[in-house]
Amino acid sequence: MVIRSIWAQSRTGAIGADGGMLWDLPEDMAYFARTTSGAPVVMGRKTWLSFPDRFRPLPNRTNIVITRDLDFEAPGAQVVHSLPDALRVAAAESDVVWVIGGAEIYAQAMPLVDELWVTDVDMDAAGDAYAPRIGPEWTVSRADPGPAQWHTSRTGTRYRFVVYHRVSRP
Ligand SMILES: NC(=O)c1ccc[n+]([C@@H]2O[C@H](COP(=O)([O-])OP(=O)(O)OC[C@H]3O[C@@H](n4cnc5c(N)ncnc54)[C@H](OP(=O)(O)O)[C@@H]3O)[C@@H](O)[C@H]2O)c1
Repeated sequence: MVIRSIWAQSRTGAIGADGGMLWDLPEDMAYFARTTSGAPVVMGRKTWLSFPDRFRPLPNRTNIVITRDLDFEAPGAQVVHSLPDALRVAAAESDVVWVIGGAEIYAQAMPLVDELWVTDVDMDAAGDAYAPRIGPEWTVSRADPGPAQWHTSRTGTRYRFVVYHRVSRP
C-alpha cells in the first residue's frame, strides 16, 4: 500500500491554530477533495473534530479516526486506537491511503510515508500546529505551477502544489 500524507503549510510550516485552519483557500480545499476522494483517509481525533458537522464524514472515502479514548464515537467513521491499526484498516480495502492530519499524526506517520503532497501557502502565519520537517530523504517530483512559481487564489493568497517522493529511509 502506498502511504501519502497531504497538508497545507505556511512559509513557517504552520498548519493550524486553535484547532482550526489559518487561511481561507478554496482552491486548496477543492484540490484536497479531488485528490483524496475514493481512498481511505486517516486522521487524529482533533482533526476529525475540526471539521464542521456538514463535512463529517468526508464523502466518498472511508474515514478512519485515531484516538486513545476507547469510548470515542465518530458517526460515519471507523474509530481505531493506533496508527498501525488505522493503516491495517486502510490496507484491507485500498492500495493507497491518505494521512490527513493533524500535526501529531503527520509526525508519527512520517517514517512510514512514501509521498508528501504539500500545498505551500505564501503566508507568514504562525500557528500552534506544525508540519513535520521535510528532510534530505525527500525529493520534489512535481510542482504546480513550478518550484519557484505561485498560483494566486481568488482570495488573493498565493499557493502552489508540491509532491515529494522519498529517496531514502531515515
Ligand atoms: N493545514 C492542514 O493541511 C491541516 C490538516 C489537518 C489538520 N490541520 C490542523 O492541525 C490541527 C490538529 O492537529 P493536532 O496535532 O492538534 O491533532 P491531531 O493530530 O488531529 O489529533 C491528535 C489526537 O489524535 C490521537 N492520537 C494521536 N496519536 C495517537 C496514537 N499514537 N494512538 C492513539 N491516538 C492517538 C489523540 O486523540 P485523543 O486525545 O482522543 O486520545 C490526540 O489527541 C488543527 O489546527 C487542524 O486544523 C491542518
